[in-house]
Amino acid sequence: MKVIEIEGAKELNGTIRISGAKNATVALIPAAILTDEEATICNVPEITDTDALCDILKQLNVNVNRSTESLVINPKDMKNIEIEEKYSKKLRASYYFMGALLGKYKKAVMYFPGGCSIGARPIDLHLKGFEALGAKVTNEGNRYTVEAEELHGANIYLDIASVGATINIMLAAVKANGKTVIDNAAKEPEIVNVATFLNMMGAKITGAGTSTIKIEGVEHLHKCFHEVIPDRIEAGTYIIIAALCGHNLKIDNVIPEHIDSLLSKLEEMGIEMEVGADYVIVFDGKKELHPTNIKTAVYPGFPTDLQQPFTVLLTKAKGRSKVEETIWENRFMHIAYLNKLGANITVKNRTATIDGPSELKGTEVVATDLRAGAAMVAAGLVAEGKTTIADAEHILRGYEQIVEKLKAVGAKITIKEI
Ligand code: UD1
Repeated sequence: MKVIEIEGAKELNGTIRISGAKNATVALIPAAILTDEEATICNVPEITDTDALCDILKQLNVNVNRSTESLVINPKDMKNIEIEEKYSKKLRASYYFMGALLGKYKKAVMYFPGGCSIGARPIDLHLKGFEALGAKVTNEGNRYTVEAEELHGANIYLDIASVGATINIMLAAVKANGKTVIDNAAKEPEIVNVATFLNMMGAKITGAGTSTIKIEGVEHLHKCFHEVIPDRIEAGTYIIIAALCGHNLKIDNVIPEHIDSLLSKLEEMGIEMEVGADYVIVFDGKKELHPTNIKTAVYPGFPTDLQQPFTVLLTKAKGRSKVEETIWENRFMHIAYLNKLGANITVKNRTATIDGPSELKGTEVVATDLRAGAAMVAAGLVAEGKTTIADAEHILRGYEQIVEKLKAVGAKITIKEI
């Protein structure tokens, strides 16, 4: 098990550079197999989710070359074999291989994906989408077979604007015969990044970033070069950390409009910032903060993935704040640990009520999932004394070099294997 130790209450100062977006990367890697030629993806973050997907590529006999920040994927000798459970369970996004393999070979066999325990996480909308395109879905326990004689375009309305279902249906539809329309599609920037990648390979996708995506099927996809967008969730996490304990801390390589909802909440709380074209500087994280309420929502609403780190900031606001989680029913696992650190938070149904301000004091906590882990890091950095975070592997799934980046701006943080 990996453990992160933080000696907290140190002022952070300097620049943190944001890496490529995890949630785009995890879809771009499976998407790359849709061509038989070489795809080069740069700004790929070094996180364990990237490693897990590259392991799946290697199982499928795809040639993968990793150099600093870029990934060259060549599927010319690829074999469409079953993706074993030991690979699929490592991360939720392994499900993108279902859409990509179906799109390429009209057949995918894999086990139900794993990922953070933050809610039920069904994939019914993905499967319904595949069926609408002409595929037959069968399962024996956790083993799913998705197969089609021919994939044809279809009109698909998503009951929920699901990120995963939107991307997976796009992957399955790019080479289908005819036109597919996805209505009530999710609008997250990562979806636009994936659609751009597919279009650079020769796909015909329009409307990504709106709630109607149109895909005109093509026969052939060719080689391409593509760049992953900056990670808005990583950026948001460090901006929250800056608001907690930064002094002139610059978060660089950011697309500010991707985090508008966070920035406006921070302004409401009284955080002073400079928002540039591709950076955010938080001047002083030590001011008295105003309480506020957030409700998580699909993009461009307040991202559920920032709810947990943001709750740490709310413990520093004077008065009562509320956090309503509308996407995942089990995303309050961090609250018990924040209370152990000294916060005053109660949870009822899907709403957390935070009474602040609270002085946090270091203690032993657990990273129960990726973003809960990020919340523990944020809390440990602002708490007096030593915080020990167990199960830190979860954090490394989505934050590139988190320990090194924080050390470089003055944090006393280490990671070790016990
Ligand atoms: C993605 C992100 C995750 C983020 C989430 C919501 C990736 C790899 N992960 O997850 O970080 O928290 O978006 O912004 O990009 N649902 C169904 N049936 C389905 C699919 C989804 O009921 O077939 C429900 C889910 O249970 C959830 C909601 O729809 O309540 C949104 O899920 P979705 O947008 O699909 O999340 P993911 O793509 O898994």
